[in-house]
Amino acid sequence: MKGLGIKVKDLIKVYRLGNVEIQALRGLGMSVKEGELISVIGPSGSGKTTLLNIVGGLDSATAGSVRVGETEVTTLDSSQLLEYRRRTVGHIFQTLNLIPTLSAAENVELSMIAMGISRQKRKERVRNLLDVVGLTPRTDHKPDELSGGEQQRVAIAAALANDAPVLLADEPTGELDSANAKIVVDYLMKVSQELGKTIVMVTHDSSVARVAHRILRIEDGMIKAALTPAQISEPAAAVSYVDQLRARVADMEIQLQKLDEDFRSGKIEGDEYTDKRQRFKQTKAGLEDELHRMGIVT
Ligand SMILES: Nc1ncnc2c1ncn2[C@@H]1O[C@H](COP(=O)(O)OP(=O)(O)O)[C@@H](O)[C@H]1O
Ligand SMILES: [Mg+2]
Repeated sequence: MKGLGIKVKDLIKVYRLGNVEIQALRGLGMSVKEGELISVIGPSGSGKTTLLNIVGGLDSATAGSVRVGETEVTTLDSSQLLEYRRRTVGHIFQTLNLIPTLSAAENVELSMIAMGISRQKRKERVRNLLDVVGLTPRTDHKPDELSGGEQQRVAIAAALANDAPVLLADEPTGELDSANAKIVVDYLMKVSQELGKTIVMVTHDSSVARVAHRILRIEDGMIKAALTPAQISEPAAAVSYVDQLRARVADMEIQLQKLDEDFRSGKIEGDEYTDKRQRFKQTKAGLEDELHRMGIVT
């Protein structure tokens, strides 16, 4: 099934942890055309996964609306959500969630069994899908007999199994080296071009993001900019991304100091102080996590 358009309006998501509220999305808006391949790029903790999970019907919104084709996702009840996920969404995650005891083919076939597709049709579709992602020679291999990039391509094939019009990919290249990341992204592009699926791909890697038709930059739970691939700099940006992260960590430290001073001098109340402090700390930890993941010691 060809892609559907996605319209997100004023999306708000508040997580509550005990007394603490975390605003993961703060009135986010975006729109994706039918068959478009969009990258959402932004630092760790900016709300990328939250956005994808709400669009995909895995998480609920606090306020705002998400429309996919004719479906108003935010108003669906739990059984409608199940149906929506089954028919409309293919979800690819960063951490591979293939079943280790099943072959590539069986992993792809799994979701078709749940949909009640006949055995013969299933076999045929599995063959086609593994061919789409270039894995015909690996059909009978188990995940641990495949490279990380090959496993991620099985995950793409599995996400295509229900022929959903919308593919959501959350850091699909997050655990891959750059060569494998490129191969995986090339297959996602192929899926976009040849099957006409609407694809939203979340990434923090600008060289991965560049393959999209458009790139949306998310910061602090809001879309801050829409960019064309040409506006995203060449791989040299991978270096400056680390610099950007470091600069934001330094900025958070300054903000935290200033916050302490404001509280001590009575400029702000205790409520505001604890709320902001929590948010800054969390953002800083997220940035540091990302630096650690990139092998940088802070
Ligand atoms: N289940 C949750 N409970 C509480 N806070 C959460 C939960 N999921 C995400 N958050 C918080 O929401 C913010 C956005 O997280 P997330 O969407 O995972 O960001 P990203 O994918 O861009 O790294 C972060 O501050 C994160 O700590
Ligand atoms: Mg995430």
